[in-house]
Amino acid sequence: MKEQRSNFSGKMGFILAAAGSAVGLGNLWRFPYLAAQHGGGIFIFVYLILVVTFGFSMLIMELAIGRKTKQSSITAYTKLNKKFGFLGVLAAIVPIIILPYYCVIGGWVIKYMIVFMSGQGKAAAADTYFGAFTGGTIEPLVFFVVFLLATMAIVLGGVQKGVERVSKILMPVLLILTVGISVYVATIDGAWEGIKYYLWPDFSNFSMSTVCAAMGQLFFSMSIAMGIMVSYGSYVKDDIDLNGCVNHIEIFDTAVAFLSGFMIVPAVFVFQPDKLNTGGPGLMFATLPLVFEKMPFGQVIGAVFFVLVLLAALTSSISIMEAIVSMVMDKFKMKRWMAVVGVTAFSVVLGIPSAWGFGLWGDVKILGMDFLTFFDFVANSILMPIVALATCILVGWVLKTKTIEEEITKNGEKFARKGIFHVMIRYIAPVFLIMILVFYTLAQFGLVKY
Ligand code: ALA
Repeated sequence: MKEQRSNFSGKMGFILAAAGSAVGLGNLWRFPYLAAQHGGGIFIFVYLILVVTFGFSMLIMELAIGRKTKQSSITAYTKLNKKFGFLGVLAAIVPIIILPYYCVIGGWVIKYMIVFMSGQGKAAAADTYFGAFTGGTIEPLVFFVVFLLATMAIVLGGVQKGVERVSKILMPVLLILTVGISVYVATIDGAWEGIKYYLWPDFSNFSMSTVCAAMGQLFFSMSIAMGIMVSYGSYVKDDIDLNGCVNHIEIFDTAVAFLSGFMIVPAVFVFQPDKLNTGGPGLMFATLPLVFEKMPFGQVIGAVFFVLVLLAALTSSISIMEAIVSMVMDKFKMKRWMAVVGVTAFSVVLGIPSAWGFGLWGDVKILGMDFLTFFDFVANSILMPIVALATCILVGWVLKTKTIEEEITKNGEKFARKGIFHVMIRYIAPVFLIMILVFYTLAQFGLVKY
């Protein structure tokens, strides 16, 4: 609905909102445990290559699609080509799946923030603490709902801009804090082994699962293939240099992820090497309290850190909710408040299995995964590659990349990686994405090892 389509105030406003969406739990919580699990340095190496080629191409493509069509993704693809309307629906399902479990993790962050703020941080360093908390019934549910309601309140109140202005100051603080904690971790006895593991690409650790995990992480972290950046693109004014903005977002997002890993992976080597492969979604929560316990002023630093993580998580969760809300509004011509309340209620229901998946419903496994891991897997490893593949076919083969290149350079902007964009979208990415989907399918039947 055109009359309700707001605009970003300018280049800075747009970069802040998009970077706010990109930088979140994906960087701080998800990236470190995947890097730990998938070979450290080799994961980083593959990830970085993917960011500057595939991630960049996808991000700029989605923004350009949004700006060109002035539609959220549910209707944007139809506008480009009637046969690709299904893509809008698929892209809509992704944030619908992600939002509930994202809020469950957001709830974990609130819990840890409260624990550190109330001076109980040392208790959180106990080996059993995280398991006992997530294994509970009331607390994980309550904190999940609190995080979801906070997201709802921001989206409903339309105060995203205010939140983004706050994060303009706080995000650099988070970056500095992450550097500080990383430097401290590097000085702990025994950290060197972990730093080597994290930085040195050991090709003997390379496998197809490294590539698949890095690719899924890229989607999640850069907020691509989930409808968000198409919606954001639709709010961008025509005279803004998309290419320049994408460079900023890409660098900031990758820097925060890299530093988060640097802060956590070597610490895992020092404190709980057995968790390197098995830490999974709990790694950040199990490891950092141990670092803060040892660190001078660790309890205060821990409290500040979790406040900032919470803010980073909120600027992302509001973008995920906003993507769903704008699609519901566009599709069903629904009032904003109704869409927000409906999406929140639905997310409560869909989030309950993830909130209880480590306790009350801990025995239920789908394809061998707890609920949260399963939802994360379906979104990042199955749906996002399908959305990305179909978008590449649409832009690379049906419309031709020229259509998007023209959108990006329509005011004479420089498009330095135009060649990479063209080859990526038309040839490499589709082949790659098909390989990934085939790999996952085979892995489910036990025909290849994941
Ligand atoms: N891109 C968001 C994050 O990394 C979803 O948390």
